[in-house]
Amino acid sequence: MKIITRKEDLTSLLLQHKQEGKRIGLVPTMGALHQGHLSLIQQSLTYTDVTVASIFVNPTQFNNKADLLKYPKPIAEDIAKLEQTGCHILFHPEVEEMYPVVDEPWNYDVGELDLLLEGEFRPGHYKGVTQIVYKLFKTAIPDVAFFGQKDYQQFLVIKKMVHDFNLPIQLKSCDIIRETDGLAMSSRNIHLNPEERLAALSLSKALIFIKDNYNLLSLDELKQQANKFFTSSNLLNVEYLRICNPDNLHDLQEKGPAIALIACFVGTTRLIDNMMLA
Ligand code: PAJ
Repeated sequence: MKIITRKEDLTSLLLQHKQEGKRIGLVPTMGALHQGHLSLIQQSLTYTDVTVASIFVNPTQFNNKADLLKYPKPIAEDIAKLEQTGCHILFHPEVEEMYPVVDEPWNYDVGELDLLLEGEFRPGHYKGVTQIVYKLFKTAIPDVAFFGQKDYQQFLVIKKMVHDFNLPIQLKSCDIIRETDGLAMSSRNIHLNPEERLAALSLSKALIFIKDNYNLLSLDELKQQANKFFTSSNLLNVEYLRICNPDNLHDLQEKGPAIALIACFVGTTRLIDNMMLA
């Protein structure tokens, strides 16, 4: 696997590949890789000719400084995992490489999605996400970019950006990979102590409850009863538990295509999860 730290080196290498008619797949990540990330790499290996993974802990998308500072950075392990998976290129730039100008302006209007759910609870988060993903798209010139359904709202935001800028990039959304007990894999799970790790199962349990009972209970009953999964432990603090229209994330008013989404603090660690219902 080639490891590249400079934008221009990555772009010139990938332009050569493109001239040879190869299709580029990009998997943007912030590292601390787990099987969820690696499943995206596997998808890219299947669907494209050259797979680029990026590892960059993007400071502009963290609305909480402490979260940024404690974000895990096990780069040696990450490199080993990417090598094992068969990734072709790792792009691992320094902050100055991606942001040569401090406080560089970025005025893309994320629109309504910036005000809902994650947008509401993490102000400025999607501004930072679109800022870095746009730069990664320009640098890695992918034909296809792979994202996880784990960050469902992020996928909708990036889809809108690709549409608004008319970028010639196909987006693929990949399934959520879970631990065997149901917990969605996340780089943040390593912060959970054993008691919190157990309490964190409430997220997937509540989602499974909603899915299993979707046709049996009203929307209000589903939410009320699912909320009970979070009252058993004082380690849990729910930010939102919603049942939404999957296209625009508006709260669902009547049954139809639906997705349930949860954000919850487990101790000091903030976790998100979601599940398609119908
Ligand atoms: P990060 O949280 O590292 O996630 C990178 C990609 O992995 C995202 O597309 C995310 O949805 C996917 N992912 C995470 N956990 C997953 C799981 N359990 N199953 C399947 N896919 C999973 O998302 C980001 O980084 C950043 O916002 C980024 C897009 C890189 C921009 O900085």
